[in-house]
Amino acid sequence: MLNRNKFFFSIITLGLCLAASPCRAQQAPPQSSQAAARAHKQAQVPWWKHAVIYEVYPRSFQDSNGDGVGDINGITSRLDYLRDLGVDAIWISPMYPSPLVDFGYDISDYTAIDPLYGALADFDRMVSEAKKRNIRVIMDFVPNHTSDQHPWFKESSSSRANPKRDWYIWRDGKGMGQPPNNWQSWFGHSAWKFDPTTNQYYYHHFYTEQPDLNWRNPQVRKAMYDAMRFWLDRGVAGFRIDAVSRLFEDPNLHDDPILPGKNAYGDPNIAHKYTDNLPEVHEVLREMRKVVDKYPGNPVLISEADEPNIAELTKMYGAKDDEVQLPMDFQIADVNKLSAPDFRRLLNEIDHNAASGQPHYFFSNHDQPRQWDRYGDGAHNDQIAKLMAALLLITRATPLMYYGEEIGMRTTEPTRKEEVQDPIGKIGWPEEKGRDGERTPMQWDASANAGFSTSQRPWLPVPPSAATYNVATESQDPNSVLSFYKRLLALRRSEPSLRNGGLYLPLNQEDPYVLAFLRKKPGSSDAILVVLNMSAEARTVKFDLSAEGVKESSAKALIAAPEIGPQSTQVAHFTVPAFGVFIGSVR
Ligand code: GLC
Repeated sequence: MLNRNKFFFSIITLGLCLAASPCRAQQAPPQSSQAAARAHKQAQVPWWKHAVIYEVYPRSFQDSNGDGVGDINGITSRLDYLRDLGVDAIWISPMYPSPLVDFGYDISDYTAIDPLYGALADFDRMVSEAKKRNIRVIMDFVPNHTSDQHPWFKESSSSRANPKRDWYIWRDGKGMGQPPNNWQSWFGHSAWKFDPTTNQYYYHHFYTEQPDLNWRNPQVRKAMYDAMRFWLDRGVAGFRIDAVSRLFEDPNLHDDPILPGKNAYGDPNIAHKYTDNLPEVHEVLREMRKVVDKYPGNPVLISEADEPNIAELTKMYGAKDDEVQLPMDFQIADVNKLSAPDFRRLLNEIDHNAASGQPHYFFSNHDQPRQWDRYGDGAHNDQIAKLMAALLLITRATPLMYYGEEIGMRTTEPTRKEEVQDPIGKIGWPEEKGRDGERTPMQWDASANAGFSTSQRPWLPVPPSAATYNVATESQDPNSVLSFYKRLLALRRSEPSLRNGGLYLPLNQEDPYVLAFLRKKPGSSDAILVVLNMSAEARTVKFDLSAEGVKESSAKALIAAPEIGPQSTQVAHFTVPAFGVFIGSVR
């Protein structure tokens, strides 16, 4: 399979309600002065530092009205599940009115809900029901482009003299039938589309139906910041900012450098030097941060940007901690093989980032094949799913889960071009099959359509694996992937060493197969030892933890996969099974 991770974006509490948040009022009063001090200290820590965020792809989570497409009331009906799973916030992919060319990432109104997903009142009810369960709602925000059906673009394209002409990127062609330069769309072919009405080309980084906004125009900025305020006023806890590094293009329209070879669309490979990561992106991020910082409760900004290295990723935090709090770490997401040295190097690098920013890890989302297949070896996929879960949830980071990863959902690609929904699969077939495979309906139970919809034909077919990989079946099995996720999430919540800035201390840094580390509260002698065997053979490991202030020679198992029960293990010598996970407490 084409490595779409790289391709796409290279193409691209309950007990945890700690911040100045609406759910604070729901907390039980502290039991003692020590507890009061602890509660006060934790209240200083913004919620997103200890939160687990869960991405909901709304078309595929739960259909409440039988039309085959998921909706807001469906999400609301599953909030109890999310609370019991143990997540703190949901990021919902776009639900704005949209012609759905890019399934919602082509927005035609930034301050409304598409009737397909429900009404604004349904949205408000979802936010308020989520709040009752201490779950925050994060909106997806798509600033780079609108739909070509957005009234702004309709005005802009109506005449060269229209007051909104400059809201988009219009340029003359080079000559008859010649676009202004060689820039390419991430979704294939030229990034310029000719408009015969006004005899100019407009720029679109993604589909032709997604014209890029001109972020050098102050009116565009104001309109977009107003849209952010609209949702903040309705109680959202922040935004995941889509495709943020693509906001600006070189005003001089330099051609991008051509690289050897061709891409999945048959175009020459190019380096997107003049359309990606221009310095002005950071100016906009600072402005967006100012918008959210005006609101109580520490709203968060999450950026989607595939930064080429840790130095670039670090810039996203801002020189004065004044840009995004959580830049998604695509480097860790894109390791794509079980390599202890690779993960160790990247975890170390981000842990020491110059901005002291909070790491933000994920392995799956609506743009990339699911981790069950990407990291699985075909024989031990469930065990490897548990290993990846431990890596995501126990390292020092704000983890971002993707719906269904907790039940071991797999990527189920279309088998025929006629079945493809995602336009990039239509353009790129058969080499690029699109993103339908990672967007199939959530598997709730073993009934028809896995409990996702009563429709005869959900918008994407329910994979056959739903018969056994589903919430209801896995809830009954203590050894299921779901049960393992729940235990990890509960441990993360209850263990002081794993929360709120607990240190990440790598161990045995030369080990080629086993990734091991300690998690520890600064100044405490209690720690959590994490041992992840990333190889297909049992490995014997030896630790000397005395340098880390650990005196005892044994570790008490808290969670292990395969399960070993509550036994103690000698840290100076123990064996971890193939792809095994050991998480134990040491002191
Ligand atoms: C982002 C989204 C992706 C979308 C693209 C264009 O990368 O995650 O789904 O197609 O932006 O908006």
